[in-house]
Amino acid sequence: MTNRKILVVGNWKMNLDTSQASLLVHRLEERIKTHRSVEVVLAPSLLTLQPLSLQIDRRKFRLSAQDAYFKDEGPYTGEVSFSMIRELVHYCIIGHSARRVYFGESLETVRDKVQAAVRNGITPILCIGETKEERNLGETKQVIHDQLTTALSNLTSEDIQNVVIAYEPIWAISTFDGEVAKPDDMAKAIKYIRFQIKELYGEQTSKDVRVLYGGSVDDHDARAYLALEGCDGVLVGAASLNYHQFPAIVDSAYQLLNERPKND
Ligand code: 13P
Repeated sequence: MTNRKILVVGNWKMNLDTSQASLLVHRLEERIKTHRSVEVVLAPSLLTLQPLSLQIDRRKFRLSAQDAYFKDEGPYTGEVSFSMIRELVHYCIIGHSARRVYFGESLETVRDKVQAAVRNGITPILCIGETKEERNLGETKQVIHDQLTTALSNLTSEDIQNVVIAYEPIWAISTFDGEVAKPDDMAKAIKYIRFQIKELYGEQTSKDVRVLYGGSVDDHDARAYLALEGCDGVLVGAASLNYHQFPAIVDSAYQLLNERPKND
């Protein structure tokens, strides 16, 4: 696990117009150093992906979309397909709780989007996680199970090795309830996600798949989440819009890797 890259993803959500996004990238570029073992991914709005793809220093950043539609083309007014963004992005966030909660995305829609991403050579960052109510009812494992099994059901185990899974409990996201999630509880959820992948696709796939934590991560607590067993990185919302906090989160990842013994 140790020699793997740490992934730090900034989800800018529906914030920043083109010039604001460009300015933030400029400021982040000044503050973030290139580091082979930390992969920094920016997920700006769809509108700014193209100009940012020309602006970013590709040694420092990769781009992600926040969503796309599962059909490649057709009469789907207002939508943009994975095939249209494939030249611009490495990743696409899929099944974010905002999509599930505000736009009613079903388990099956998320599954079709994951499949469309893979078909177009884009790595899905599949978001899963329970609501506060589901958590209080003790349904966390069931929700993780259902979201995972449906979302991945059209992929081969080889495809799944390249998928990134982001565990984002909805109650911990700053724009919902924003409760601070205890790192130990998150470690249990991450372990359960890997256990589910192992049950479905075998031991090797469960080791290879990358699992992130997301939910109110900031520069103070990022390290505690990054240090969790089985955690390959963080998906950051609000703090990724801040040009002091986001570089500090990336720094926490560098420091953690530097402190780790090389072969443990
Ligand atoms: P916050 O970090 O603002 O809680 O957002 C998390 C998130 O939704 C990232 O996708």
